Amino acid sequence: MKTLTLEKVVIFSALIHPSFALPNFIKGLLYLQDPATITSSIPGIQTASTDIQPSPVGINTALNTTGHITLAPVTTTAINTLQSVLPTALTTPLIPSFPSPLARLSPNILVPIATTAPPPQFQNAPKHPVPRSNIQGSGPLQTNKFYGNFYLGSQSNSLWTHPYSLAKTCTTSSCGIAVSHIERSQTAFAAGNPAPYFVNPIGIHSIVFGAAELGAGTSMTLSELDEFSANVHLAPTVGAAQVLTMPVVQGMGFVTGVYSSAQPVLMSGVFFSNLTLVSTDGGGADRVVKWRIGLLDGTSWLLYVRTDNPTNAPFLLQDSKTIIGPLGFSGTVQVAKCASTGMEQFYDSAAGAYATGGSVSASADGDVGTYTISWTKGGPASRRLLMFALPHHVESFDAATRAALTGLQMQTTTKGMATAVLAETITMVEDHMPVDVLYDAAPANGALKVASAAAQTAIVRAASIELAEDIFEQTNMNSTYWNGKALAKFAMIIYATYAKGGDHDLAAAGLKNLTTAFAYFVDNTRQYPLLYDNDWKGIISSAVFATGDTGADYGNSLYNDHHFHYGYFVYAASVLAYFDPLWLTKGTNKVWVDTLVRDYANPVTTDPYFPFSRMFDWYHGHSWAQGLYESADGKNEESTSEDVFSLYAMKLWGKTTGDENMEARGNLQLAVLRRSLQNYFLMESSNKNQPPQFIGNKACGIMFENKIDHTTYFGAKPEYVEGIHMLPLSPASPYTRSQAFVSEEWQTYFSDGRAQNTDVAWRSILYANLAIADPRASWLYFTSPSFDMASLDSGASLTWYLAFVAGLGGS
Ligand SMILES: *[C@@H]1O[C@H](CO)[C@@H](O)[C@H](O)[C@H]1NC(C)=O
Ligand SMILES: *[C@@H]1O[C@H](CO)[C@@H](O)[C@H](O)[C@H]1NC(C)=O
Ligand SMILES: *[C@@H]1O[C@H](CO)[C@@H](O)[C@H](O)[C@H]1NC(C)=O
Ligand SMILES: *[C@@H]1O[C@H](CO)[C@@H](O)[C@H](O)[C@H]1NC(C)=O
Repeated sequence: MKTLTLEKVVIFSALIHPSFALPNFIKGLLYLQDPATITSSIPGIQTASTDIQPSPVGINTALNTTGHITLAPVTTTAINTLQSVLPTALTTPLIPSFPSPLARLSPNILVPIATTAPPPQFQNAPKHPVPRSNIQGSGPLQTNKFYGNFYLGSQSNSLWTHPYSLAKTCTTSSCGIAVSHIERSQTAFAAGNPAPYFVNPIGIHSIVFGAAELGAGTSMTLSELDEFSANVHLAPTVGAAQVLTMPVVQGMGFVTGVYSSAQPVLMSGVFFSNLTLVSTDGGGADRVVKWRIGLLDGTSWLLYVRTDNPTNAPFLLQDSKTIIGPLGFSGTVQVAKCASTGMEQFYDSAAGAYATGGSVSASADGDVGTYTISWTKGGPASRRLLMFALPHHVESFDAATRAALTGLQMQTTTKGMATAVLAETITMVEDHMPVDVLYDAAPANGALKVASAAAQTAIVRAASIELAEDIFEQTNMNSTYWNGKALAKFAMIIYATYAKGGDHDLAAAGLKNLTTAFAYFVDNTRQYPLLYDNDWKGIISSAVFATGDTGADYGNSLYNDHHFHYGYFVYAASVLAYFDPLWLTKGTNKVWVDTLVRDYANPVTTDPYFPFSRMFDWYHGHSWAQGLYESADGKNEESTSEDVFSLYAMKLWGKTTGDENMEARGNLQLAVLRRSLQNYFLMESSNKNQPPQFIGNKACGIMFENKIDHTTYFGAKPEYVEGIHMLPLSPASPYTRSQAFVSEEWQTYFSDGRAQNTDVAWRSILYANLAIADPRASWLYFTSPSFDMASLDSGASLTWYLAFVAGLGGS
């Protein structure tokens, strides 16, 4: 392995992730009261005293006729008289409930949420700043899928199908699609132990698919931009008939070029050493001719040619950079790297057949979920497809799929070894779906139904302070992300106050504020209202139009981070609906929230307003946060925990709206994501997929298609890099972050007092996360007399953390 000291690799995507290095002006908004005052009012918490102090600033009790909040002073210091200042409506007991199902579980849980137009408050966006260039066809377009680089910007960056990557490459006289495969021995590791990042080389053009007709003016367009695939078309000039089509499908076993009346030309940046005819079609019906190509780097590649008239298909090695095929050729040319010996039989048996696309179906039964990826096929019907599966697939294969496994493995860039299957479908079973994880973690994760009396007291005390914070101010930022976080924070406080603190009146008062605050969003009257983008088809922030900055609102307008942003709103809505089922029937509340879910997690390909599963990649088992930005290392995702939260939110929304299919999708996607995180992102010392010299980082940092960088978009302190994979702490956290991982991570970075010296705004995130492995230590931190309210970031609350930690057994 090479250990290179590289300059810090430039992060190619635009600024994506929220910075927690909050400017002071924002910090000032976080607390109504001076944090010092709050801190000094907290110390009694640990002593379970009974002199509970309500907020000194009063309780908002009413809206006046123009919709403004009017403030009533708290006239007594006894919390149990709070009710006396609440309007009678709020004294109606809250009776949280899940409805009986309105939409019953379907055999395939990927059924539409809706296919109607978004409600009218999502006004139409102006023309999108990123043109729909280089794309054939209309309809909703995938914005966050692996082939984005092929239609965006210069069109010169790679896409990764795993184990191969492809890139358009041109010389002064020709253009083609280059195929690359990287062995681990070629990977560059930054100096350090563990290596702070690793990156695979780009631009090794082992074999380039071209044609004599494809000169320097070659045009590349994409069609069928589907969930697992797209068709890449090369034509001599813009608008001319295409001569070469390459279906790019995740996991494809061969790289396949479909030629149409053209002269194939194969080129190489590594240089050809030799070309040998291995076998003619032998008169067989499948008409596949096999060649072997030797490259000067010592690698050996297989070339399979299939045409109606194979005897007319000679391929000649013209020089070390060029192999030419016959004139006017129509048929398929396929290459595969012969990476391990004794495995050629698998290629031989499948050659001629190639994947043209894929789809997913899924079902659920109790806590068992099953999903199947089915590929469509070109070439001879009699031949099986050769496809590569990732480690998390293989781990969860059903018996029939396991039987289709071959021993053929190839290295991927960032997801371990891919294993080939001879199959048109693969089926994966998740038998520990988090069906019991609702607003509390499941009992299996150690959750207690009831908090201790001391915990109850502490929770209510904290809630009386935190529910008096100005929700309206905190949810009126110029940021979709921060507004959503604030809504979710208050929703969590309200749940904790009710269910763990047992103070139903305080919860009701908080709920009233949350309802009012949420209505501003449903009415779409906050800063940077959300718009419907009719170009790419999605709900986007209007920030780019207001500011001219494509990175504004963390790039939401260009489809970055939609699951992160909208997941918080969906969670808050699920809490509203849980406590107030009638809320669902009012105005456009339900359809507004459903529309956000359709934007980031639409379950069908037949919705004319949104693409299928914009964020979650059913092949990789996690989401890609990056939208319409060209990027040298491919799509990326930073915060796996916000990915988790977006699915957890969807699951709860399905539960509170009675949509069993949505709930089941949330459960299944969480189970798949957990498996993907444990295999690739949250690296326990036993991790088998990531390079040994990288595993010591624990959380991976930012996962790209081509590299992994143990950093964030806002700094590289351990509390940032690890913490962004922790927040927000929710009942889904103990499900997705194993105790073993949390312990190892703590020992690596935060044990022996080190947590106390981290950036203060991150400290409580670290300690709430610690509760997964050591709830008692976490509890002592949050109830310490020296607990500092400034250690809560603005998406977090002491109330929720106390309830969360108590629920895990801390109190
Ligand atoms: C409602 O409250 C706002 C803010 O305090 C105030 O400006 C407005 O005049 C009030 N409206 C009525 C009708 O009282
Ligand atoms: C063909 O090229 C491969 C890869 O460089 C090499 O191992 C092999 O010896 C070559 N064969 C001949 C006949 O030159
Ligand atoms: C509701 O919000 C107002 C305004 O921010 C705040 O003063 C009040 O304390 C809140 N009330 C409750 C019970 O949450
Ligand atoms: C949000 O407001 C702050 C403070 O006024 C400003 O610095 C920032 O540029 C704004 N961001 C956007 C995207 O408008």
